[in-house]
Amino acid sequence: MNPLKRLGRRRASVLALLAAAALVTPGTANGAPGTPDDVKASTLGAQAAQSGRYFGTAVAAGRLGDGTYTGILDREFNSVTPENEMKWDATERSRGQFTFGPADQIANRAQARGQRLRGHTLVWHSQLPGWVSSIRDANTLRSVMNNHITTVMNRYKGRIHSWDVVNEAFADGGSGQLRSSVFRDVLGNGFIEQAFRTARSADPAAKLCYNDYNIENWSDAKTQGVYRMVRDFKARGVPIDCVGLQAHFGTGGPPASFQTTLSSFAALGVDVQITELDIAQASPTAYANTVRACMNVARCTGITVWGIRDSDSWRASENPLLFDRGGNKKSAYNAVLTTLGGTPAAARSTPAAPGGKPAAPRNAVNAAALPSRYSWSSSGPLISPKPDSTHNIAGIKDPTVVHYNGKYHVFASVASSSGYNLAYLNFSDWSQAGSATHHYLDRSAIGRGYRAAPQVFYYAPQRLWYLVYQTGNASYSTNPDISNPNGWSAPRHFYSSMPDIIKQNIGNGHWVDMWVICDSANCYLFSSDDNGHLYRSQTTVGQFPNGFTNTVIAAQDSKYALFEASNVYKVQGSNQYLLLVEAIGSDGRRYFRSWTTSSLAGSWTPLAASESNPFARANNVTFPSGSWTRDISHGEMIRAGYDQTLTIPSCRLQYVYQGMNPNAGGDYNLLPWRLGLLTQTNSTC
Ligand code: XIL
Repeated sequence: MNPLKRLGRRRASVLALLAAAALVTPGTANGAPGTPDDVKASTLGAQAAQSGRYFGTAVAAGRLGDGTYTGILDREFNSVTPENEMKWDATERSRGQFTFGPADQIANRAQARGQRLRGHTLVWHSQLPGWVSSIRDANTLRSVMNNHITTVMNRYKGRIHSWDVVNEAFADGGSGQLRSSVFRDVLGNGFIEQAFRTARSADPAAKLCYNDYNIENWSDAKTQGVYRMVRDFKARGVPIDCVGLQAHFGTGGPPASFQTTLSSFAALGVDVQITELDIAQASPTAYANTVRACMNVARCTGITVWGIRDSDSWRASENPLLFDRGGNKKSAYNAVLTTLGGTPAAARSTPAAPGGKPAAPRNAVNAAALPSRYSWSSSGPLISPKPDSTHNIAGIKDPTVVHYNGKYHVFASVASSSGYNLAYLNFSDWSQAGSATHHYLDRSAIGRGYRAAPQVFYYAPQRLWYLVYQTGNASYSTNPDISNPNGWSAPRHFYSSMPDIIKQNIGNGHWVDMWVICDSANCYLFSSDDNGHLYRSQTTVGQFPNGFTNTVIAAQDSKYALFEASNVYKVQGSNQYLLLVEAIGSDGRRYFRSWTTSSLAGSWTPLAASESNPFARANNVTFPSGSWTRDISHGEMIRAGYDQTLTIPSCRLQYVYQGMNPNAGGDYNLLPWRLGLLTQTNSTC
């Protein structure tokens, strides 16, 4: 946002009109018109991502030196489950002595490649060290179990999308009861509830799963036992988010009732995931039936196969996987890809190019996870200023938001005739956003004076929340507890002064809207100059927040076409990053253009980047509760996580933005900005 702008709204509109002719520069004007949203992909992960699902595999740390193995892993899969490395016997072999080397190796490697991580598993009777199974005292076992859950989850906090909190606790056969284990025998049936409650407080963002085998057939007593437990947990508010069905099948594949089982669990209000799929002899039909059942259930969010090649399988003699011992795709692979909606390589047309050589297959690269056209539905104004005796606020602006610990945490600029500062509010549901208390952060060590356009994220390597904002310089404060408005540190600057390249290009603009995003190696700091330039500096993950250097122009266009308020995100389950930049349209109104790239330090390719095909503009937003704004201005996406990777979902996007009464005008600082929420209406999943 540009608080120093002194243009009245009318004057801004006229200038924008004048600039409209120059708005479009070659190569950045339009998205890729006509690119179908349902373009077929050529790999399992990319195709699953098109419906918002992941396709994963179990990974063994000991095989990561095998190039055939890692080649397939990185080409095909966008989620990874450590096969044994996070189990109790691997992580806490003796009491209180934790080992994370092999698990870290898998987790760091996956993160570096943008693959998601499943955590497997915290409480399980098997692969359990003898020192745990011999405990007989309930208090001791309870504290040992809670400490194990907390320590392992903390290690990977914010990095694991789903955790198998409890594995295989139910008995086979007709009882429908828990099996005998040290946990049940010493702690009683309540150990599962205890484990889930502990897990929720350890990593509130991870989905908490109960995982088991032989629960795929709906009428089985074991399935019904698990179903009753999940129903009871949901009824009593015990935290549980998903059921993992291992799906270790015999030659016939899934039972006929498999989809019924998935949808019945889902109807309880949990996700379902196929967590350890393998099928004796890998019949293509059996695999297709399994995948189809998941595709037919909206809350079936992903599939993991239990290994890559047959030779990697714990059931190697049954050849149950998708790749043979040589790493070649088996016919079951094609059946899975087709059922996910993709096109196997052999079925692709490879028209001959002039000269007779076959042209490269059109779909050889991973398909884009994001569509190239957008439509949205907007809420009415959800958050309005709440002035108090010392804060005479006229507008609330520039929201940043994370969902953490069951709450939305929103930070925003508050504007008044005396200038800008920051406010914080939290709420568990958007319907309560309007009644949330506004905490003015000038009462914290952030202090008074010009502070604006915040961005919040959790920096996992330091276990600290960061609030990045503008003060004239690019500044930040930190806080160990996002929900404590008094916990923020005094502002510190990222740079000693404005980088030279910005001084040389800023013209009459303003240095605004600082934005940090990190991949596994580096952090990048983006900023705008209200003069057509997006800048990018970089430092290493280890050095952050220090060491930002190598400032370059990451994107440029005419002044109003690339104005300010940029957001950069990682798209979940893909290798894509998304850039949004606010522009001023030919009607003088604010809107967003979008670009993608596969590397944060790379160049940006237009996605939906024009006035006629915008990312978000009044012309692709409907207002079911009344059209209250024509500006879709400075805001932020609702993220899938809350850490420094700024990961967003690839579908059902939601964007919190600032809008205002189109008839308002006058002093820029007194404009009546309000916050609303866009929800994507053309999502394909
Ligand atoms: C298996 C691994 O694949 C083997 O390498 C290991 O020797 C035993 O465990 N259910 C589960 C998985 O939850 O953890 C198991 O994995 C397979 C059955």
